Amino acid sequence: MNRFQDVQGHLRGHRYHWLVTGAAGFIGSNLVEGLLKLGQRVTGLDNFATGHQHNLDQVRELVGEQAWAGFDFINGDIRAAADCARACEGIDFVLHQAALGSVSRSIADPVTTNDVNVGGFLNMLVAARDARVRRFVYAASSSTYGDHPALPKVEGVIGNPLSPYAVTKYVNEMYADVFARCYGTEAIGLRYFNVFGPRQDPHGAYAAVIPQWVAALIEGGELRINGDGETSRDFCFIDNVVQANLLAAMAAPDAANQVYNVALNERTSLNQLHQMMCAILVKQFPHLEGHTPNYVDFRAGDVRHSQADISKAASMLGYAPTHRIDEGLQQAMAWYVRNLAPAA
Ligand SMILES: NC(=O)c1ccc[n+]([C@@H]2O[C@H](COP(=O)([O-])OP(=O)(O)OC[C@H]3O[C@@H](n4cnc5c(N)ncnc54)[C@H](O)[C@@H]3O)[C@@H](O)[C@H]2O)c1
Repeated sequence: MNRFQDVQGHLRGHRYHWLVTGAAGFIGSNLVEGLLKLGQRVTGLDNFATGHQHNLDQVRELVGEQAWAGFDFINGDIRAAADCARACEGIDFVLHQAALGSVSRSIADPVTTNDVNVGGFLNMLVAARDARVRRFVYAASSSTYGDHPALPKVEGVIGNPLSPYAVTKYVNEMYADVFARCYGTEAIGLRYFNVFGPRQDPHGAYAAVIPQWVAALIEGGELRINGDGETSRDFCFIDNVVQANLLAAMAAPDAANQVYNVALNERTSLNQLHQMMCAILVKQFPHLEGHTPNYVDFRAGDVRHSQADISKAASMLGYAPTHRIDEGLQQAMAWYVRNLAPAA
């Protein structure tokens, strides 16, 4: 039995109270789903800045009414200290996901990104400390590697940030570290690399590449590739991220107050990704045969290549990804076809 199976077995027999911030978003709603399916009690906090009620409605459908009874929701803002304090009352574990994502959004509006991602993060840390939660697991980011050219990325070697978003995510790590020193809090940062899967928002100016492309392919919009398409990423399916969060919450104390890469240690170029997605979708959408993307300029703030060394998460947390990119894409595409495609 691997470590994740152990943890799932433990959780089936022990009911904890979890706070998931950003619960109406992509990663947050998947964490809520995973926890409720294990019979846990979960409080969600979200202000619907980029999250949606329909994500929570879908979780309710998937977990059933009995598990859903273990969920309660606070419509609140992490920029408000009182909302954070209320949300942390009686909580065992915090999975802090609420933030404004997207490098481009942060370049367009660095002040709001900072208010939410730094000010809101600090409010959450203070609230978690005051409520004496057992552990604070938070969404860090691969953007923290910045301009450092080394591949694969190892946690201790980072470069200069390339965007305001990257600054905020690095500051999160510094605050978590300082809180451990000053107040003895236990935090774990998970540096996610391009996560994808069901419920990731396909619409809006700041949509991530996979949902944006799948919407364009299904709905017939323009599919743009920024640059020459040889930019590469370590695309990580959501189930691996849910696993990493539960492992981090349950890990031994010597694993705390550190950061861990969460991905696959694989690299896929945008051109390869486009081909893989078309190959899956063409079966249902024959017009995608021979589909060609539009190549446009490189995007400011984007790193050229990204790939994670995941050996630290494997050895310290027991992280063992269950889904490689092709398996993840099959599941994600099936979800988008069900949820985006117009009824026949
Ligand atoms: N998706 C990725 O590839 C990726 C990669 C690295 C890091 N991350 C981080 O993971 C976390 C979750 O990202 P996601 O992809 O699920 O994005 P998302 O936009 O789907 O989810 C973020 C959620 O936070 C909520 N939120 C935003 N501001 C808030 C505020 N002031 N108060 C309360 N709630 C607020 C949003 O409404 C949304 O539901 C973020 O911290 C993001 O920076 C994501």
